[in-house]
Amino acid sequence: MCGIIAIAAKNDCINDIISGLYSLEYRGYDSSGLATIKNNHFEYNKNVGKIFNLEKSVKKNKLTGNVAIAHTRWATHGKPSIKNCHPFIKDNCVLVHNGIIENYTDLLSQYSINKKNIKSDTDSEIIAEIYNKLLNKFNNPVEAIKNLNKKIIGSFSFAFLVHGSNSIFVTKRGSPLVLGIGKHFNAVSSDVLGLPDSTREIIFLEENDIAELNESSISIFDKNTRKIKREKHKFVQKQDFKIKGNYKHFMEKEIFHQPISIEDTILNFADKKRKIVYLPKSNIKFNKFSNIILVACGTAYHSCMVAKYWLEAMTNINVSIDIASEFRYRKNKFSLNSVGIVVSQSGETMDTLKCLDKFKKNNIPTVSIVNVLNSSIARLSDFILPTLAGSEIGVASTKAFTSQLSVLALFALHIQQQEKSINKLYFNSIFEIHKSVNEILNKENEFKKIAQTLVDTKSIFYIGRGVMYPMALEGALKLKEITYKHCEGFAAGELKHGPLALIEKNIPVIVLAPYDENYFKLISNIQEVKARGGRIIMITDKMGAKIAKKYSDKLIIVPKTNFLTSPIIYSLPIQLIAYYLAVFLGTDVDQPRNLAKSVTVE
Ligand code: AGP
Repeated sequence: MCGIIAIAAKNDCINDIISGLYSLEYRGYDSSGLATIKNNHFEYNKNVGKIFNLEKSVKKNKLTGNVAIAHTRWATHGKPSIKNCHPFIKDNCVLVHNGIIENYTDLLSQYSINKKNIKSDTDSEIIAEIYNKLLNKFNNPVEAIKNLNKKIIGSFSFAFLVHGSNSIFVTKRGSPLVLGIGKHFNAVSSDVLGLPDSTREIIFLEENDIAELNESSISIFDKNTRKIKREKHKFVQKQDFKIKGNYKHFMEKEIFHQPISIEDTILNFADKKRKIVYLPKSNIKFNKFSNIILVACGTAYHSCMVAKYWLEAMTNINVSIDIASEFRYRKNKFSLNSVGIVVSQSGETMDTLKCLDKFKKNNIPTVSIVNVLNSSIARLSDFILPTLAGSEIGVASTKAFTSQLSVLALFALHIQQQEKSINKLYFNSIFEIHKSVNEILNKENEFKKIAQTLVDTKSIFYIGRGVMYPMALEGALKLKEITYKHCEGFAAGELKHGPLALIEKNIPVIVLAPYDENYFKLISNIQEVKARGGRIIMITDKMGAKIAKKYSDKLIIVPKTNFLTSPIIYSLPIQLIAYYLAVFLGTDVDQPRNLAKSVTVE
């Protein structure tokens, strides 16, 4: 986690540094800091809280500089505080770090570091202390990094300022770093989003690369400090996804963007007139695989859960799903003829990335479904299926989730097409999803009213069956993420095996109930809840409403759906309820406490 931005420029670069930090705030936002070097002297500012606090103090202190490194933190070792905030300043160097140093206590003894010199609780300050020693020994910043990297176990991207030089020195292993080249500057950031708007070209650093950048040049070295060249790519300008416009929060904007993002994603892979699904060109014949293994974390994992239902019902392939943080350590055996699919909005989630490695080590072909096309996961996988949601800024995933579902739905149809058994009803219905989504968005006031009734409740439950079971989990995740309320999702049929004990008078139970083959079973489960005093909030279609009226305390009617479209369309109600409840409760919707957008730690 954490974000790094560093710039070496002809002119003052502090505004670009601050704007870069704002763009990286999705990686963590509990404290931030920056340091500059001027006339061989380090100056710095650190602050606890959001970037706004740092910006204020930088302005107040009139901090300027042409060469600066900066950091936004998501605490792993040591709580958010000034003493744990980056950069770390030692005699000869300044450091910012993203990642986790696993052997930092061993390094203390290996380098005979005096514990008194370490003032913070972090795993990072020790690196600054060691680098300081190595600079004294080698008198060469690049050689010193080479020696440092040899001893480290863990993941890192580092940026250093060094006495006697106007360059920035960086290196990476397991955490992303991208170099940005401009007319009068060179920059480096954890993500292209952090780079200045006037960046012209970018270079992705590879594992163990070391780079030195100053205002006019960049030198890249491999792990043995041999000079190397890395490919340059054109920098694509950031889009207006980064501006809230008339919306109160990015999450609100992203929810309301979904008619467009879903349609964009679907039209990218399917042609209504020619009646075909066309995935990007590849030699992979997906219908020839016997097993599909889907792995992801959080919301992306819920999209895999939905896909399991789809793929099992619509194709002849076995499907297994796993949470990435479990899958990577499992001692599972791979059957021949399997394909591994990883799903990730950011494309940087460490556990998901490690699963990709695991697939590769076992010679399993890999597919990634990612929203960030130049992410580590995208670059490492054999085949990419992009979700065209556009940048998602709100920590709670909304439009990226519905785009993941859209791609997975198309993937299932694509396999059916290869198996020559495409379901025409499903195929035609995907082109109508955005209209149903729009209809639901037009009912925003109904969802506000529901949210209002949840303000004083201590617990909330979501239930569903079939494809609505993962959606119940997603509804609960969304709600707890941004409202901080206790909320759980259950497979409705499981209630009587334990969770029913939690139902007491007035406990709200939100039921996701499209009128499908599970509907009547669900009605029985609702009655179990009702009999124990639970308050039923039912989300269903017209047909479902006719029957459900008498069992529900509150009912919202959404458009008719089918097995393939219902998870995408029912995403909207769960997002709107969570969003409006969070607004009523006054939480920090876009940056909820303790979380970060991109989870690059294990
Ligand atoms: C979603 O609302 C969450 N913030 C989180 O669960 C997220 O989906 C998860 O961390 C996976 O992220 P990724 O899609 O970027 O890999």
